[in-house]
Amino acid sequence: MLERLRGGDVRALARAISMVEDGVAGSEELVAECRKHAGEALRIGVTGPPGAGKSTLVDQMARWLREKGETVGVVAVDPSSPYTGGALLGDRIRMQERVGDAGIYVRSMASRGAVGGVARAVRDVCDVIAASGRRKILIETVGVGQDEVEVARLADVTVLVLVPGMGDDVQSLKAGVMEIADVFVVNKSDCAGADQVVGEILAMQGLSSREEGWIPPVVKTVATAGEGIAELMGAIARCGEAKRGRIGSEADREWMSGLRLDHLGVAVKSVAGARGFYEMLGMSVAHEETVDHEQVRVAMLPMGESRLELLEPTAEDSVIGRFLEKRGEGLHHIAMKVADVDAMFLRLKESGVRLASDQVRTGAGGHRYFFVHPASTGGVLVEIVGEG
Ligand code: CO
Repeated sequence: MLERLRGGDVRALARAISMVEDGVAGSEELVAECRKHAGEALRIGVTGPPGAGKSTLVDQMARWLREKGETVGVVAVDPSSPYTGGALLGDRIRMQERVGDAGIYVRSMASRGAVGGVARAVRDVCDVIAASGRRKILIETVGVGQDEVEVARLADVTVLVLVPGMGDDVQSLKAGVMEIADVFVVNKSDCAGADQVVGEILAMQGLSSREEGWIPPVVKTVATAGEGIAELMGAIARCGEAKRGRIGSEADREWMSGLRLDHLGVAVKSVAGARGFYEMLGMSVAHEETVDHEQVRVAMLPMGESRLELLEPTAEDSVIGRFLEKRGEGLHHIAMKVADVDAMFLRLKESGVRLASDQVRTGAGGHRYFFVHPASTGGVLVEIVGEG
């Protein structure tokens, strides 16, 4: 069974988890064996008071990871519930079906009365899921009681989800719960009072000092709209790295940046004149727009997962206008997409990389971007674009 489990067989995985939950004979050996093969799966705990929108947030996080090609396990833990079943499990099964995807495995655990305690049961189940090759495991708990705090402690990175309108609750959470957070999320941040919650968290952080030197960032999200998810995942990845005290594996690094080729920018005298050739190749203009502050007309032609960007100047004395005058038509820049464009901007700036933008700006299609000077890139103008 271990063989099948490690091969990614979902039935073997489900059966192994049931064996571990039921504590049947041989399950301890199974867990021990799984632990040897658990690899470096990152365990991300998501906790917070009921009604904070944790399930929706976890769904969005799982989706985001799947879009990045990550394999994902989701463990929804309800320590107050004595039996499996009920609404939580039903929702989760629906989610799994909706995703319709073997790369995500969702498991609901109702663990009251678990032998050895809830945290141990969750840890064992996570080891089994990790042994099945899932590299990111999201552990969601229903509330913020003592059991949940114990569960949060076994995660590599713990996300504490808060919402506006909690009144004095942020204060009352202080004892024991605020300390477990590696990343704070203020969800439903489109509601009144979000900035107040952020302020309360920051004020509380000012009072406590943490040994590791990691200062938990505060990320605002609107989980129902998928807003802030890229920022959250960037913060989680940075925290995971900080805690492990090193840069992770290649895969982790790529996940952290979400790096991929976004588009190639080609300077042309006129979009109308240049598009014909690309249309002969079977490409077509999906989006056309004038970006006033760049004095450029932009036409985007999708090309697999990336795009071709035709750039026509709207003024002679513009960046593209001057480029055409100096060099004629041709490749102007290459654009890479990263998960967290602001973090990348800071990282490059702090590393002494010569940037061609003084800040992250908003361009065609609402995308946020900045440029890196060819002096730092091997002679190519590089655009860094954010997600979303
Ligand atoms: Co571009």
